[in-house]
Amino acid sequence: MSKQVEKIKELVAKREQARLGGGEKAIEKQHARGKYTARERIEMLVDEGSFEEYDMFKKHRCTNFGMEKKHYYGDGVVAGSATVGGRLVYVYAQDFTVNGGSLSETMAQKICKVMDMAMTMGAPVICMNDSGGARIQEGICALAGYGEIFERNILASGVIPQISAIMGPCAGGAVYSPALTDFIIMKEQTSYMFLTGPKVVKTVTGEDIDAEHLGGASVHATKSGVTHFAAKTEEEAIEMIKSLLSFIPSNNTEEAPRVECNDPINRMEDSLNEIIPDDPNKAYDMYKVIGAITDNGEFFEIQPKFAKNIIIGFARFNGQSVGIVANQPAAYAGVLDVNASRKAARFVRFCDAFNIPIVSLVDVPGFLPGTGQEYNAVIQHGAQLLYAYGEATVPKITITLRKSYGGSHIVMGCKQLRSDLNFAWPSSEIAVMGASGAVAILCGKEAKAKKEAGEDVQAFLAEKEDEYTEKFANPYEAASYGYIDDVIEPRNTRFRICRGLAQLATKRQQLPAKKHGCMPM
Ligand code: HXC
Repeated sequence: MSKQVEKIKELVAKREQARLGGGEKAIEKQHARGKYTARERIEMLVDEGSFEEYDMFKKHRCTNFGMEKKHYYGDGVVAGSATVGGRLVYVYAQDFTVNGGSLSETMAQKICKVMDMAMTMGAPVICMNDSGGARIQEGICALAGYGEIFERNILASGVIPQISAIMGPCAGGAVYSPALTDFIIMKEQTSYMFLTGPKVVKTVTGEDIDAEHLGGASVHATKSGVTHFAAKTEEEAIEMIKSLLSFIPSNNTEEAPRVECNDPINRMEDSLNEIIPDDPNKAYDMYKVIGAITDNGEFFEIQPKFAKNIIIGFARFNGQSVGIVANQPAAYAGVLDVNASRKAARFVRFCDAFNIPIVSLVDVPGFLPGTGQEYNAVIQHGAQLLYAYGEATVPKITITLRKSYGGSHIVMGCKQLRSDLNFAWPSSEIAVMGASGAVAILCGKEAKAKKEAGEDVQAFLAEKEDEYTEKFANPYEAASYGYIDDVIEPRNTRFRICRGLAQLATKRQQLPAKKHGCMPM
């Protein structure tokens, strides 16, 4: 055997060893936990044969606490480039079989390398987390590694899409890398995210709680809103990443990929002409409206279980990707509150950063009143949504279906926030507030006097409410000022959106020159 052939054999052996990560036993243990390995996850995500791995032979340099005996090729992360659906992505997956996927200085260098490549190439970064956090034996060097990653997360924000899948532990300051990315997907039961674990919580606050209830997928998908998706299996989590990628561009200078559309753009949807109940206080399901107007009725929802009073997600019109923001009358009457505002604000900003037009479907009675909201800064969170809409320069189309009252009318993509096309259904009510509230304020003194004089106050109030409704609870008052561009038949909504998007394709709008705004946060 020639020396060259011998060396090639050595390379093949080293590669095989590297592919085993922390070794066969550790892989068995990982599988026994119901988890895939880092390499298996990458294999499921990327197009077959497309993974180009970097730093397979990189090793850590730590000698503290016996680490000189714990050397594995590649250390605790598998990283490289690949394609998903034929499009370039950069990906890294923490390898729990190697020192619990804990982050070393060299691991951070590997991660930073793919992040830098992604920025240079203008391609999304996908990270799969499964880690015990900072490698304790490395102390400050591990922390510095996190700092390097966080800084890159920040600089990449709004330039390339960043997606985090949490497949195992993600604790302590380590949570801040996913939190800085655009979308988080958590796998139910085997993953968790928290700043301090159950033991510390018990010591500090005396609270007894397990990891799942403190920071599991169900908690973050419903209560905190930290995760955008909860997946039952790792396969489902990976399919979610692929779906998400299909709706978004590779970077902020590109547009989302257009898909062929075989759903006619002028498809009339007669059901929409009868969807609004006669009783203005009765709910209907906004999902039915969304399903009736998008291409093939498809909608990829984000944060479906958090702040259900607002619906956000991606859909397509005539093959073009759009972000939909819709009030949901079937959940708390579609009222805006702290959580709904911050959920929608972040989404609007993502769409704006990545050239994705925004379609808003409005049926909003106002902001939720009360101390619960005021003490939790609904003013600031509402302002976030306002700011996000007002700042967004992508094509914006707003359809008012029914109520659009007061501050919430302005926030939800009104004309003055530089919305391009504002359509209203004939059932729209666009005013400062609802009829009964308005009459109580405007005619309170008169009603009191009539009561004291023994007159029929109810009949008086009803008459005034009718007068108010006649004047304001319709779209024509707003249309008469040009704040509504057209009043449309509901069944025509799909066509008007498709035609509007085609018209707005060349939209160019700039913000005043500034370093950055000071968003109310
Ligand atoms: C070094 C670690 C490690 C860590 C796990 N391991 N976490 N090594 N640094 N942070 C090692 C274990 O020693 C073990 O090595 C192997 O990984 C597998 O861990 P196990 O404990 O056997 O696995 P399991 O029982 O499944 O428990 C997983 C775990 C637990 C819940 C993640 O290991 C754990 O609690 N780790 C510490 C978590 C933590 O507090 N990290 C610091 C957070 S603060 P051997 O050789 O025995 O197989 C932080 C600050 C970041 O990260 C700040 C950024 C700004």
